[in-house]
Amino acid sequence: MRKPLMIGNWKMNKTISEAVSIVKSMKNAVVDVTDVEILLCPAFTALYAVNNEVKGSNINVGAQNLFWESEGAFTGEISPAMVKDTGCSYVLIGHSERRQYFGETNETVNKKVKGALAIGLNPVVCIGETLKEREENVTFNVIEKQIKEGAKGLTPEQAVLTVIAYEPVWAIGTGKTATPEQAQKVHAFVRKIYANMYKEEVADKIRILYGGSVNPGNVSNLMEQPDIDGGLVGGASLESESFAKLIKYSK
Ligand code: 13P
Repeated sequence: MRKPLMIGNWKMNKTISEAVSIVKSMKNAVVDVTDVEILLCPAFTALYAVNNEVKGSNINVGAQNLFWESEGAFTGEISPAMVKDTGCSYVLIGHSERRQYFGETNETVNKKVKGALAIGLNPVVCIGETLKEREENVTFNVIEKQIKEGAKGLTPEQAVLTVIAYEPVWAIGTGKTATPEQAQKVHAFVRKIYANMYKEEVADKIRILYGGSVNPGNVSNLMEQPDIDGGLVGGASLESESFAKLIKYSK
């Protein structure tokens, strides 16, 4: 059985004190949750403080990015070991905003995935088509390429440690969610690719999350789909009340 995973991606929001303050109220709001794994992804600057704040709670912390090299002259970059050192267990890789604004490619995603796994961080690899690609009917080609190139060279043991987040670019921050059926189609396709690349057992273990305008109102219908194993949430994760409601979607 795959345990549902709900991730709050705070993107470039919240100072250290703002982040710590919301985590304090979030901890109380989700204290009784045991059936869903909870992950918060604050900005780099707040990682250490947020990791200290969640100690002993049911909230885990992840970074929003990293660089694949272990150290050296790479001004402004953060290594996998530095992320791990703050207490993180996960890292988002290849978010569409990083692909769109910062030139990330499937190749750099693959390097980052390997860098994360090498240090013991679980990668959450983001994939998804743009509106243009959906309209041109190339969604499945785009997804297949993102998966195959992003996971290139991973062993089955490494593949099962990976989480996939399907975020159609047209649904991010737009209020337009993919319908549960649209999302399920892509999720089932992603699982099939993994079954072909590895084995059914590997594909069955991999968690595939949906992201793009997920909110407390639409999360249950999405989570009813057999291949949707959780959510990658932007806007609705910025306040503890809405994120806690969303996490408790089944209650
Ligand atoms: P929104 O939930 O704000 O649409 O953002 C989705 C996202 O990009 C999460 O990574």
